[in-house]
Amino acid sequence: MSLWRKRKSAPRDLDLKSLPRHIAIIMDGNGRWAQQRGLPRTAGHSRGAENFRTVATHCKEIGIEYLTVYAFSTENWSRPPKEVETIMGLLEKYLYEAIERMERDKVKMKFFGDVSVLPKKLRELIERTELISEKYDGCQVNICLNYGGRDDIIRGAQSYAEDFAAGNINSLTDGEFSARLYSGGLPDPELIIRSGGEKRLSNFLLWQGAYSELYFTDILWPDFGKDEINAAILWYQGRNRRFGGV
Ligand code: FPP
Repeated sequence: MSLWRKRKSAPRDLDLKSLPRHIAIIMDGNGRWAQQRGLPRTAGHSRGAENFRTVATHCKEIGIEYLTVYAFSTENWSRPPKEVETIMGLLEKYLYEAIERMERDKVKMKFFGDVSVLPKKLRELIERTELISEKYDGCQVNICLNYGGRDDIIRGAQSYAEDFAAGNINSLTDGEFSARLYSGGLPDPELIIRSGGEKRLSNFLLWQGAYSELYFTDILWPDFGKDEINAAILWYQGRNRRFGGV
């Protein structure tokens, strides 16, 4: 990535030498965004998906290495079937387009969560997207689908228990456990952003977010564009990260 490209979309006061390597986002507020405009909630998800593309492109352009977004949680299945169907449809559409744009965008895409229960067409697209984008290493976008932080930790514990029972391992460090999670091998997010006004993690990256800076904003996800990402990064750059020290 040339510095010129980074400079083009980054404001002057953003320090490009101390960017977070990994940003994670809870994209909340699609439903309210639509309701405020007298539109069906699904229209908000559609705008939310478009906005995700804008934000992902911007993050790549300024030099963020990893972007992880919460697109569908293990709890989201309790939404009305029509809304679940719309979100799955939007994801399919997004992946078709992502595959078409792959050569140009050069973004590696990964999916965190139990995708085995998703509709067959979506599963196939996920597999194709991961396979085709495997070769890119500039920016990695992780989409959390049927993801839950507790489920992630339970799976990690199960995988450790199996290795332990088989006599393959007899100790467990922080790093070894992290490697068993969906995000295995990635740095933890330094910054977690939640749009839409709520101030909670809602089962998102519970292990990985242990030391993340948490940025909450009332702005609804479809309105959370480049300027808002820049503002969140600027806020992060003003934080003093002590990791339990002084
Ligand atoms: C939360 O807003 C949003 C979701 C549960 C779905 C997020 C899905 C997308 C942005 C579309 C597809 C994603 C990608 C990555 C292409 P909400 O419905 O809870 O809003 P509310 O709090 O206002 O009701």
